[in-house]
Amino acid sequence: MLEHEQVVIRTGRRSRLPVIVAVHSTALGPAAGGLRLWHYRDWRDGLDDALRLSSAMTSKFAVAGLPSGGGKTVVALPQGTKPDAARHRDVLHDVADVIASLGGAYATGPDVGTGPDDMAVIGEITPHVFCRPAHQGGSGDSSPHTAQGAFAALRAVSRRLYGTPSLAGRTVAVAGLGRVGAALARLLAAEGAALTVTDIDPDKRTIGEELGAVWAAPEKILGADVDIVVPAALGSVLDRQTVADLRCRAVVGPANNQLATPEAAELLHERGIVWVPDYVASAGGVIHAVSVELHRLTADEARARVDAIERTVDDLLDTARSRGQSPAQAAGELARRRLGAASGPAGRPVAQRPPAQEQHA
Ligand code: PHE
Repeated sequence: MLEHEQVVIRTGRRSRLPVIVAVHSTALGPAAGGLRLWHYRDWRDGLDDALRLSSAMTSKFAVAGLPSGGGKTVVALPQGTKPDAARHRDVLHDVADVIASLGGAYATGPDVGTGPDDMAVIGEITPHVFCRPAHQGGSGDSSPHTAQGAFAALRAVSRRLYGTPSLAGRTVAVAGLGRVGAALARLLAAEGAALTVTDIDPDKRTIGEELGAVWAAPEKILGADVDIVVPAALGSVLDRQTVADLRCRAVVGPANNQLATPEAAELLHERGIVWVPDYVASAGGVIHAVSVELHRLTADEARARVDAIERTVDDLLDTARSRGQSPAQAAGELARRRLGAASGPAGRPVAQRPPAQEQHA
């Protein structure tokens, strides 16, 4: 059964590339979610990604307690290609056309492969776009805020496991040093954590050196002998095998869609490893963007909302423990409760859904 309100798949008139916009739910408010420009073997894999990522955005806003819905855009680039600058603009304008046609049901933002300058290009055609550069009226790069939110989640996990929110002296493995991963690694290093890091791009080694981090091979990072593993790259990293190989006490990070298979959350729980659902730990960027651009909060107020992820995770871990559930179950129930309390478009009740972690693996 399709649980999404609408999914638009269109061949871009300029770029001839498949543009996929998935609006999962507007039950809590107009949908928001980033534009992912990434390579896929088949555009249908991009469709799968859009479906799962947009569903995760619905949960992200619901758990964060914000009146927005979930959506996502994927432009599926053929394997081994990279659009040149002119074509890149064409892609962005093609995306903007689809968003404009949705009449405000969905607004986009940055995600893997896109940033504030791209949002400015989309803004040439439609106002439904977050995170344009500040001088163009947007809230700018969301990645430092996503990193700050993940850091808040890490503090809550640290309090639960070690009795102190401070990460000083903790051993932490950061998988992925993109814009978010690098910012988070810097926050952790500044706090005094001992880092192991990696990235598929060997040039990122310089960031590791700068932070005094140990460099690990990408395929070794999840199994690193550390206190906490932080997924900060692409998703689908947690499956039966990788969960069995973990040596840490917690997995918490800003990557979206960390579970490769739905049951991985329960396998983690059975192993006594704390996993904070990705849609909780990665919410800082969108929280900041909608707080500043839609709710007109000041920078300090928005920052306080991002920092409140620490409290949200504290509460989730408490609830999960008192009910004997995994944090994923507790978060899924919270999201469903908030979505169930709202009604869908035109008063349609929101369909009851199975726990979120069983869907956007
Ligand atoms: N990439 C962000 C996320 O996955 C999406 C986003 C950021 C959307 C900022 C809007 C504004 O949460």
